[in-house]
Amino acid sequence: MTEIIGKELADELIAYRHYFHENPELSNQEFKTTAKIKEILKNWGIKLIPTGLKTGVLAEIGRESGPILGLRGDIDALPIQEETDEPFKSVNPGVMHACGHDTHIVSLLGAAYLLKQRESELQGKVRLIFQLSEEANEGALQVINDGQVQGLDAILGFHNASNYPVGYVGLKVGITSGAIDKFKVTLTGVGSHASAPQNGTDPIVALGAEISAIQTIVSRNIDPLKGGVVSITHVESGNTWNILPEIAFFEGTVRTADKEIRKRIKNRFIDIVKLTARAHGVTAAIDWYTGDPSVNNDQFLTNIVRDESSKFTTVYEMTPQLGSDDFACYQETIPGVYANIGNGRNVGHHNPHFTADDDTVLYGTEFFEKNSIRILRELSKDKS
Ligand code: NI
Repeated sequence: MTEIIGKELADELIAYRHYFHENPELSNQEFKTTAKIKEILKNWGIKLIPTGLKTGVLAEIGRESGPILGLRGDIDALPIQEETDEPFKSVNPGVMHACGHDTHIVSLLGAAYLLKQRESELQGKVRLIFQLSEEANEGALQVINDGQVQGLDAILGFHNASNYPVGYVGLKVGITSGAIDKFKVTLTGVGSHASAPQNGTDPIVALGAEISAIQTIVSRNIDPLKGGVVSITHVESGNTWNILPEIAFFEGTVRTADKEIRKRIKNRFIDIVKLTARAHGVTAAIDWYTGDPSVNNDQFLTNIVRDESSKFTTVYEMTPQLGSDDFACYQETIPGVYANIGNGRNVGHHNPHFTADDDTVLYGTEFFEKNSIRILRELSKDKS
């Protein structure tokens, strides 16, 4: 690899990676990060796009006619105290790039530099999306609501991946991550003395029935070959041994990899919770929070990226998992590819000992640059 990058640019990019890693900022507070990205892009003569966003950066390279490809890199860090021995470890107490988004920022910067050098050859335009607030699961929505993905014909992004050699590219057509929903339920009965339950309506017995009934959704209501999960993770009620309380509370999450199953689980959940509550004479207040959909890779584009990436690195089949990335929100309306790129280290994400090999940013640069040129070429064929 790196024949297109060269030592001087590689050194510059790795120095930027160390800067961003050393100066991590939490979701929606990426002010210095934003300023630094803008400064670098301006130095390279790259056009910034005005936005209504508080943080994050949008920029464009290419010609006015032809397809537009979005390139997305997320820029935020996590509320974790870094415990690595890296010479460029975080200087911000309690904040750390423990998901490696510093490598995403710099990969996108590196690609921006290279694409700018070849601007006149591009068969369309790339829109660089340095996205805020991925960790809070709502940065993509902010970018979308600000109108910044209008007109995009395709979108490309990646996440660095632990436990893979540096630069290996993971790809998979279709769903690769879970859709996330969250629920909170409050059951309200009538409190009474523990010795005289007939004088009240016990929400704890109702809660027990709810827990069992909810477990029938996955086992009885959805296709066993498709799957999904409903997990109750927190229950709370009462505060002493001789009083039947008035309220019982539980919350949890639903993870699915299929839109129809996602709907089905929600509908069954609401029916079961309401009717079970009714059977026990208590009322149920349900708060349902719809989270990110699944990452869902477009077949045509994934095949292009697989072919192009295999020219400079090893490509492997990505294993689907039920974690999430708000990149999925873009893919609701724009065909896209979300890849993994090995970071050459073996510590999991969101861990205080997390690290990524510096060369991740060189492979990330090449990944964005080469695939951008190829995708724009393929899409412009498609359009003509
Ligand atoms: Ni991440």
